[in-house]
Amino acid sequence: MALLKDKAALITGGGSGIGRAAALIFAREGAKLAIADLNANGAQETVSMIERAGGQAFCVQCDVLKPAAVEDLVAQTVRRFGRLDCAFNNAGIGGDLARTADSTEECWDAVVGIDLKSVWLCMKYEIAQMLKQKSGAIVNTASIAGLGANPLGIAYSAAKHGVVGLTRTAAVEYAKIPIRINAVCPGVTETPMVEAGIAKRPQMRRVFQKIHPMGRLGRPEEIGEAVAWLCSDAASFVTGIPLPVDGGFTAI
Ligand SMILES: NC(=O)c1ccc[n+]([C@@H]2O[C@H](COP(=O)([O-])OP(=O)(O)OC[C@H]3O[C@@H](n4cnc5c(N)ncnc54)[C@H](O)[C@@H]3O)[C@@H](O)[C@H]2O)c1
Repeated sequence: MALLKDKAALITGGGSGIGRAAALIFAREGAKLAIADLNANGAQETVSMIERAGGQAFCVQCDVLKPAAVEDLVAQTVRRFGRLDCAFNNAGIGGDLARTADSTEECWDAVVGIDLKSVWLCMKYEIAQMLKQKSGAIVNTASIAGLGANPLGIAYSAAKHGVVGLTRTAAVEYAKIPIRINAVCPGVTETPMVEAGIAKRPQMRRVFQKIHPMGRLGRPEEIGEAVAWLCSDAASFVTGIPLPVDGGFTAI
C-alpha cells in the first residue's frame, strides 16, 4: 500500500530542490499536499508537476519568517483537506561563506531567522492543529552541519544544530499524543542552492564528492524518500532523531 495514502501534508520550501523532490514522492505515495514557498512560481511549478503525475496539491506563497503567514498556511491546509497529518519544515538558505571573525551580523540574522526560527514557528502552528487531531508527524530539515563542524558557515551550523535541539525537545514534549517529530540531516545534495555555490567555485564539486565516503553528492530524491518514510506510519516508533542521509559522511 502507498506509504502516505490520503494523508494531508504541507511542505515548506516546496518550490525547489529537496522540498520539491519530497513533494513529488509524497504525492506518489498518496498524500494530498500544500506546497509553500516564498517563490510562488517555484511552488506553482511543483504543483503542476504533481498534477501531471495524477496527484493532488495546491500552492501557497508564504514567507516562513512571518508568523501570520505560517498560521495562515496551516489554516489553508486544514480548510482544504480537513486536517494536517504531516509537515516537512524544509525552507532554508545557505548564507555567505566566511570564517567566524569575518562573518557578518546580517548573514547571522538571515540564516538563523530562516533556518532556525522559522522551524519553531512552523512547529508552533502545526502542533496546535495536530493536538486537536491527537496525531501527526513532523520532519524538520537539519543538515550534516547540524551534527558537526561546518567551517566557513558559523550561522548555518548554529541554526542546524538548533534544529536538532528543537526537534528533540518538541518530540519529547508531544511523544505521548503521539505527535512524532524528527529531523533529516542531508549530506551535500545536488540542488539549486548547492549548484549556485559550485557555479562560483567549480573546484568545490570535487571537494564535495571526496568528503562523502560514497564519493558523490546526494540526490534530492534520496532525501525525500527518507522524509516520506519518517512521516509515514511505517516509522510509528521513531521520534526525536536527527537522521543522517549523507552517503556515510557522519560515519567517519
Ligand atoms: N542542498 C544541500 O546540500 C543541503 C544539505 C543539508 C541541508 N540542506 C537544507 O535543505 C533545505 C532545502 O534546501 P535546498 O538545497 O533544497 O535549497 P533550494 O534553494 O533548492 O530550496 C530552498 C527553498 O526554500 C525557499 N525559501 C527560502 N527562504 C524562504 C522563506 N523565507 N519562506 C519560504 N520559503 C523560503 C526557497 O525559495 C527555495 O524554494 C534547506 O533547509 C537547506 O538548509 C540542504
